[in-house]
Amino acid sequence: AAPEQPYRTAFHFQPPQNWMNDPNGPMCYNGVYHFFYQHNPFGPLFNKRMHWAHSVSPDLINWTHLDSAFTPTDPFDINGCWSGSATILPGNKLVMLYTGIDSENRQVQNLAVLKDLSDPYLKEWVKHAGNPVIDLPEEINPDDFRDPTTTWLAEDGKWRLLVGSQKDKTGIAFLYHSDDFVNWTQSDSPLLTVPGTGVWECPDFFPVWIDSTKGVDTSVVNPSNGVKHVLKVGLQDHFKDYYMIGTYSPEKEHFVPEEELTLSTLRLDYGMYYASKSFYDSVKNRRIIMAWVHESDSEADAIAKGWSGLQSFPRSLWLDENQKQLLQWPIEEIEMLHENEVSFRDKKLEGGSLHEIQGITASQADVTISFKLANLEEAEELDPSLVDPQLICTENDASKKGKFGPFGLLALASNDLTEQTAIFFRVFRKNGRYVVVMCSDQSR
Ligand code: FRU
Repeated sequence: AAPEQPYRTAFHFQPPQNWMNDPNGPMCYNGVYHFFYQHNPFGPLFNKRMHWAHSVSPDLINWTHLDSAFTPTDPFDINGCWSGSATILPGNKLVMLYTGIDSENRQVQNLAVLKDLSDPYLKEWVKHAGNPVIDLPEEINPDDFRDPTTTWLAEDGKWRLLVGSQKDKTGIAFLYHSDDFVNWTQSDSPLLTVPGTGVWECPDFFPVWIDSTKGVDTSVVNPSNGVKHVLKVGLQDHFKDYYMIGTYSPEKEHFVPEEELTLSTLRLDYGMYYASKSFYDSVKNRRIIMAWVHESDSEADAIAKGWSGLQSFPRSLWLDENQKQLLQWPIEEIEMLHENEVSFRDKKLEGGSLHEIQGITASQADVTISFKLANLEEAEELDPSLVDPQLICTENDASKKGKFGPFGLLALASNDLTEQTAIFFRVFRKNGRYVVVMCSDQSR
């Protein structure tokens, strides 16, 4: 990073400048990764008239930034090109579906196709002349209908997709089907609704193998193939991504989650992590997920640095052996970014002691660390009412001493340690098992 830009990232995706939010239409096409994102090309703050910026990469690490793929130009998107998803069809055709904010400020769903299939950069897209292909449902507020998913093909030969919405605070994943991508019919009932959750943004719906860490193509829908389904929704009111694991029945057109969606059920991640979107990478046979990492910088800081927002480092994603939660890990390509390794082992950590790690600038580092703890049976019992890991972290900030923890790292520390970010662990016991939480305390 340039010296005047110490906080530009070394690992995470960022645009050259200005505001970025959601990942859009990520895909691997003919062996090349394409990444689109919500971008305000005119400044470092959010503006409703969003554009789709576009970058390409051979490895999800080294990116070439291209011109915007979609800009607000037509009555069906003149007030903004909002989030959407790509689908690669049999025969290698490509379709893109995105939300347009139309000339009357209504959210509608639009179709675009590639102009020239032989262009390896996929630079030019043609918006369908008959847009919108999905109009605002009558009973829905014009601000509450957006973010079409990647489509999947069911055994009846029809494509399906979801659109996020709400009515009277009941979150809705509307389900549509089509055989030509142009004419869409709303299913008799939504895929899922959950009262009290507010508008659902950026739904993502995909299969996972029940017995493998490999990825599954989005159109493998039948549970008899050995898959379960994941429905992820972003709750706008809480700015958090939640997911449910369950069974999708393409004939009955419904999804039965194993656990009800509540504010203390499964989240994809904690902290700043929102609007995630996954895709199936057919080259490496894995499912990859990326998400918008919003910053806590002030608007004035965003203006001073000229940009705001980054993407989470791409992660592979699969179902845990216990089939109750997803597991994620940074894609193996992260190793290309490793240089200037500093390592040591067998350090004894006494309570309250600090060891400075020499040889790195601690503004950006990828850290692998293992701790060995003795007498773990003495760990404190966790307050049984505390089920949300983020709450466990905030109720026990880094200054609060426990039996096992806090221990971990101090990053971004000034010499006198008045400024520091503690990234730390605590170990508790709960119902005869151990619970480990990883926290970060940004208060200093
Ligand atoms: C989520 C979101 C989406 C919308 C987009 C607009 O962060 O609000 O629902 O399509 O951002 O930029």
